[in-house]
Amino acid sequence: MNGVATPPSSANFGVDDAAAVAEIRAGLLQERAEVSPKYFYDPLGSKLFEAITQLPEYYPTRTERGIFERHGAEIARSVGTGAAMIELGAGNCDKARRLFPALRPAQYVAVDISTEFLLDALREMRGKFPDIEMQALGMDFSSGLNLPRGVRNEKRLFFYPGSSIGNFTPAAALELLRDLRRQCGVAGGVLIGVDLVKPASILEPAYDDALGVTAAFNLNLLNHLNRLIDANFNPGDWRHLALFNAPLSRIEMHLEARCDLTVSLPGGERRFARGERIHTESSYKYELLQFRALLVKAGFRNINTWTDERHWFAVCHASI
Ligand code: AVJ
Repeated sequence: MNGVATPPSSANFGVDDAAAVAEIRAGLLQERAEVSPKYFYDPLGSKLFEAITQLPEYYPTRTERGIFERHGAEIARSVGTGAAMIELGAGNCDKARRLFPALRPAQYVAVDISTEFLLDALREMRGKFPDIEMQALGMDFSSGLNLPRGVRNEKRLFFYPGSSIGNFTPAAALELLRDLRRQCGVAGGVLIGVDLVKPASILEPAYDDALGVTAAFNLNLLNHLNRLIDANFNPGDWRHLALFNAPLSRIEMHLEARCDLTVSLPGGERRFARGERIHTESSYKYELLQFRALLVKAGFRNINTWTDERHWFAVCHASI
């Protein structure tokens, strides 16, 4: 995808075009249209997300960073050194880079669907940490993680920061955690960040900021879809929406049609009436006890958690 060369050696490099087109098309043709949030991350989408993490309203990234800074020594004691650190959704690799001095992993495997962005980020990291073996995997792990043989089996640490686990329904999150548990190898674990339930008055601005960066991030999905599936969305016809669905404990992002319109898709078209929406993201917010219970259910035994003073975000280390 995106004109990125796919090495023939790995079937999991990049997104499988035909499967992606079919998945996106099916989602758009549902009565309640939806698109997976993984398609936010084209090169511009990854940059817009990076900008989001710097917004005053978007507390998760800096709150998690604060937890790592404040409790880094204890986290390192829990995790141990010399791990094979596998980061899911590594993006700009900034979170792992900050942990390297404390965790001193033997290997760092950065996995992200946004291949070009990831390769640029890892290129910079390589020079700075010559002692850590590094590998980039441009792949979609949303329906299972397929690691190549080069990934060490000893002391695997699946690093899943940023509350990206929140993009999965709790049932799908459980499946992913079970999958990671199965792939933990000898003495493995997960180090995972999770966003906690809080008032809508804090959550909603975090996903609908005053500068409109999150709106741009959401609307950019349409440009990405135009390229991915050869559709003809006009981003100007759509409005960004973010709302907290309290009964389901999730932030929802939608794109709402500003007028009646028709979008042409491969092999058909989809009409949207004014006000009709495409559901583009769910970001689940957990109670800490619920999340710990999910880790236990997935088969993890020893769980340590750290949080910030406001209890807005939690970091959990769970091992087998
Ligand atoms: C990358 C899934 C953690 O849900 O907070 C940020 C993505 N979407 N603003 C989140 C996102 C809109 C983010 N995650």
